[in-house]
Amino acid sequence: MSATHQLRCTTCGARIAGDAVRSDFRCPDCNGLYEVIYPWSQGWSAEKTASAEVRLPNPGGMRHLWQERKTSTMPVDQSGVWRFRELLPIVRDVERVVTLREGNTPLYEMPRSAELAGVDWLLAKHQGMNPTGSFKDTGMTAALSVAVERGFQWVACASTGNTSAAMAAYAARAGLRCIVFIPEGKIAWGKLSQSMDYGALTVQLKTDFDGCLKLLTKLVQQFPIYLLNSVNPYRLEGQKTPAMEIVEQMEWQVPEHLVVPGGNLGNSSALGKGFLEMKHLGLIQRVPKISVIQAQGANPLYRWFGDENREMKPVKAETRATAIRIGNPASWRKASRVIEETGGWCEQVNEQEIALAKAEIGAEGVGCEPASAVTLAGLKKLVAAGRVTREERVVLVLTGHTLKDPQYTIDYHKGELLTAAEIASETEAERASHAALRKPPLVLEADEAVVLRALEERMAKANAAETQATPGTSK
Ligand SMILES: Cc1ncc(COP(=O)(O)O)c(C=O)c1O
Ligand SMILES: [Zn+2]
Repeated sequence: MSATHQLRCTTCGARIAGDAVRSDFRCPDCNGLYEVIYPWSQGWSAEKTASAEVRLPNPGGMRHLWQERKTSTMPVDQSGVWRFRELLPIVRDVERVVTLREGNTPLYEMPRSAELAGVDWLLAKHQGMNPTGSFKDTGMTAALSVAVERGFQWVACASTGNTSAAMAAYAARAGLRCIVFIPEGKIAWGKLSQSMDYGALTVQLKTDFDGCLKLLTKLVQQFPIYLLNSVNPYRLEGQKTPAMEIVEQMEWQVPEHLVVPGGNLGNSSALGKGFLEMKHLGLIQRVPKISVIQAQGANPLYRWFGDENREMKPVKAETRATAIRIGNPASWRKASRVIEETGGWCEQVNEQEIALAKAEIGAEGVGCEPASAVTLAGLKKLVAAGRVTREERVVLVLTGHTLKDPQYTIDYHKGELLTAAEIASETEAERASHAALRKPPLVLEADEAVVLRALEERMAKANAAETQATPGTSK
C-alpha cells in the first residue's frame, strides 16, 4: 500500500491503495466514490497518526513555508496548488508535476454586490482567473500529474466545457493524448474553442452531460484511458487548495460563509474537504458554513434536501448556465455531507435571478460566467431567509471567467436572453434593475453631430438616474 495516501470509499468506508482503484473510480462493493486520505487524516489509524513518520510541520511552520514559496522561482512553488503540497502528497516526485502555475487567484472585495445582497462584507474568490479560465485547473494539475506518474498515454473526460478546456491544456503540456466528450450544442463557444486550440480530440455527442459521462465510464473500462472527471478523487485534492488560499488571503481568519455553485458537486465537496482538513490539523479553529447554489432547472441536490425520504432523484437538467446543466450529480453524497457538517444550505435560483446577478457582478468590474453568478443570486435568498446575517463575512466562489460564455452576455445586454414568459414573471424591482444594467451597443452613423447628440442623451439619462438613486443631491 502506498505510504503517502490511500483511497477510502465515502459510502462503505473500504480502503484501498491509490493505484488499486478501478478505472471508473467506483468502489467494487457498493459503487461509492473514493476520497483521498493521508496518515494524518481523521480515521486513518491511531498508531500511524502518532508515529514520527507521518508527523507534519506544525501549523505555524506550514503557514510560513507556504508563504515563503511564493517568492521561489520553481514552477512547483509558483503553483497555487503545489505550494500547499504537504496537504496533498499524492505524487512521488513533486518536481515532475504538470503545472501551468494555477491557483493564486484574487480575492476581490465586492462592495456593490454586498449592498445588493444585504451584507456588509462580501468577497469573491475568482477561480476564473486560472490559466484556462476556470477552477478546473486546480484539480487538473493534480489528477493529470497522477495520470503521468501511472504511465497513462490517454486521458478523457465528459464535460460541460470547462473540464475539457482544462484537461486539454494540461494534457498538451504533458504530451498526453486526450479525448473530450461534450453534449452537442449545449456548450459555450469559448470553452469548445479551448479544447480544439489545445489539441484535444473533441467528440460532440447527441446527449446531455449525464449521457456523456455514462458512456465514457463504460469506455474507460475497455481501454487504457485515464478518467479525469471529478469522480477521480485526485481532482478534488487540487480543488481543495482555494480553501487554503482564502484563509491565507484573509490573514488566517475564516469567513462565516462560503457560497459555491453546484453542478456535478465535486467543487463544493473539495472545498469542504480543504476547510475540514485545515481544522483537523489545527491551521484554523472553525470552518465556514458552506452553501451550494443550483440552477432551478438543474436542482437535484436542492430537491434531495427538501425530500423527506432523502432519495436522490436525477432530473432532466435545463439551464442557460450550461456549466451546471447536470441532472445526475456524481458527488452529491460528498457535497450533502459538507453542507451538513459545516451547517450550510442548498438553495436554488431561477434564470432571471442568474442573469441579474451576472450583470451585477459584471457591473462591479469583476465579471464571471453564468454558472458562477448563481452564488450572488443564492446569497440574496440566504440573506432574505435570515440564514446569513448582515455582519457575517461571506466569500462567493466565482468559478469561471466572463469570457467563457460571451454569447450569454451579449444576448442579455441586447435584451435577447430571457423569454417573454420569464420577463413577465419578474418583479417591478427586478425589471428596474435589468433596465439600469443593460448596456446594448449603440449603432450610429459615423457623423460627429449624430454621435454627440447620442452621447448627450445618454449622459443626461445617466445623470438623471443617479440623482433619482440618491435623492437630495444635485449633480
Ligand atoms: C464555471 C463552473 N461553475 C460551476 C461548476 C460546477 O462545479 P461542480 O460540477 O464541481 O459542482 C462547473 C462545472 O463544470 C463550472 O464549469
Ligand atoms: Zn464502498
